[in-house]
Amino acid sequence: MGGKNTKTFKIQDDSKNTHKKIPLHTVEGIPIPTSFFTPEKLQSAISYKATPEDVFIVTYPKCGTTWMQYIVWEIINEGAPLPSFDDMNVKYVPFLELTGREIAETMKPPKLFKVHLPYHLTPHHPEAKYIFVARNPFDCCVSFYNHTKKIKNCYHFEDGTFDDFFECFIRGEVHYGDFFDHLLSWWPHRQDPNVLFTTYEEMKSNPENAVTNVAKFLGNDYWEKLKDDKDLVDKILENTDFNNMKEKLQYNIGQDGDNDQKVEFFRKGQVGEWKENFSDEQYRRLKKHMMQKTEGTDIPKLWKDL
Ligand code: PPS
Repeated sequence: MGGKNTKTFKIQDDSKNTHKKIPLHTVEGIPIPTSFFTPEKLQSAISYKATPEDVFIVTYPKCGTTWMQYIVWEIINEGAPLPSFDDMNVKYVPFLELTGREIAETMKPPKLFKVHLPYHLTPHHPEAKYIFVARNPFDCCVSFYNHTKKIKNCYHFEDGTFDDFFECFIRGEVHYGDFFDHLLSWWPHRQDPNVLFTTYEEMKSNPENAVTNVAKFLGNDYWEKLKDDKDLVDKILENTDFNNMKEKLQYNIGQDGDNDQKVEFFRKGQVGEWKENFSDEQYRRLKKHMMQKTEGTDIPKLWKDL
């Protein structure tokens, strides 16, 4: 591994920096794990030439990507039974940084992609559509901790504690780097005509609104089909409901018959679970980090009760 734009990820020099680290290196400025994700695929994803028919679902990790992937797919496929998690991520709404751009050649329009890329690295076309989902950084941190700890053969963090992960998260020493840098890169584009900006919390508080907003954004054909068809809306809501997805879909990564590698992807699906995980001190530090990073923006207003 290691292309010309690859370098070892530099850990902040700090005497209290004794927490367990996630083995990462940076490629094109993005920290990626040293296993499983390759510089070549990331570079291939970045070099994909977007087309007007493309729809990109863009998130920082653990912010509602999969839920949005299934909502978009369900709208386009009129409430069809859910495809498997693997088919979703490699075939129907491929995770471009894992599959590389070649996958696009096998797809028919509308081509749907999942990316976790910041704005400047996301393949751009003025007529392509971009659905951005943000989630409050506190719940994201807890979800990302569980993900990083459980996917052993990718992150090698199985012995890491939440306290270790918190130190990694607040320093941006995690896959895809600092939460706020990612959000800040998309923030100025949230009202672009080809961007739909939403939050996980908005989706949770009103899933029906989420579905109708996405259908309208995808185009008149989809909205026309949905707007007078209550049964179709209900079917999509039922299919993409957390408990249904948890029951029907399984996420097993690199398992090769090894039960130890089974990952419970659909874990809690809640807003506010962070309160059970953060110490008062961790809350204060992440809140301070958030206020410093987002100074001069309205980002804190997205999550007024934090
Ligand atoms: S990833 O790995 O970055 O693609 O993860 P991502 O899909 O962005 O985020 C995973 C979290 O989203 C929750 N999830 C859902 N919540 C509500 N409804 C539905 N249908 C749904 N599907 C996935 C999932 O449980 C993860 O959150 P946590 O807090 O870990 O449960």
